[in-house]
Amino acid sequence: MSRLPLERVLFATDALEKKGLVMRKGHGFAMTREGVEVMALKDYVKKDLIFALGAVIAKGKESDVYEALTEEGTVYALKLYKIGRVSFTSVRKKRVKETAEFRSWVTANYGAARREYQALRKLDGLSPSFPRAVAYSRSTVLLEEVSGVRLSQRPYLQDPEGMLKTTLGLMRRAYLDAGLVNADLSEYNILTDGAAVWLIDWPQAVGTSHPNAKELLMHDVKVVETFFKRAYGVESEAEKAFEYVVGNAESPG
Ligand SMILES: Nc1ncnc2c1ncn2[C@@H]1O[C@H](COP(=O)(O)OP(=O)(O)O)[C@@H](O)[C@H]1O
Ligand SMILES: [Mg+2]
Repeated sequence: MSRLPLERVLFATDALEKKGLVMRKGHGFAMTREGVEVMALKDYVKKDLIFALGAVIAKGKESDVYEALTEEGTVYALKLYKIGRVSFTSVRKKRVKETAEFRSWVTANYGAARREYQALRKLDGLSPSFPRAVAYSRSTVLLEEVSGVRLSQRPYLQDPEGMLKTTLGLMRRAYLDAGLVNADLSEYNILTDGAAVWLIDWPQAVGTSHPNAKELLMHDVKVVETFFKRAYGVESEAEKAFEYVVGNAESPG
């Protein structure tokens, strides 16, 4: 199909296999997850979006996040989805199931990358506290890099009470102006530099018309509010905060 001489093809597949980008399967080859990620990198490079990869920013449960650099030196955050990450040994054991497993890996991770991109596009321009999504490809999404540490590390905050209000205000903007509920908001998905705050990790966001939108929002509100109480002693009321976020009250209490 490639109209290349067989030897040339075998040379290429051999090199790709050594790099772990394809693996032998019956008489042919199948792409690996790493192969998929390299294809995504190639997409970004072809579109002149990135030029080089930098250091790992963080390794999460569902993703690895790397710095990615543009030719001009701008730094982006490249999120590589790893939903259903399995250890090497369990991969070996599951050899027979590999095709089905790879397909479901593709579905889950491509879907998450696309959904996160779409959610962040809806939030685009509402506030610098939502990282801008630059592009997505396959199981990856390219994001504006934001500084800060996870709130779960309980960093020193200049004004904890103010930060809770700001966070609720951002949830309100997402709800009222973008029609979105994050649905996985917690101290792990809030970044801060002590003064500013960023709300990240949006693949599971739901629209406000979703039948469970209000419950999911109430859950987000409670998680955030409880954390501020526990970690910083900020008192608040979930009901009032909820009414504020959905636009029924002018202040969170
Ligand atoms: N736009 C970004 N800029 C800087 N760091 C980021 C960005 N997005 C994610 N990170 C880092 O990567 C970690 C994991 O990202 P997150 O979106 O929460 O994915 P996961 O689904 O793995 O939790 C974050 O806790 C944060 O440290
Ligand atoms: Mg997260």
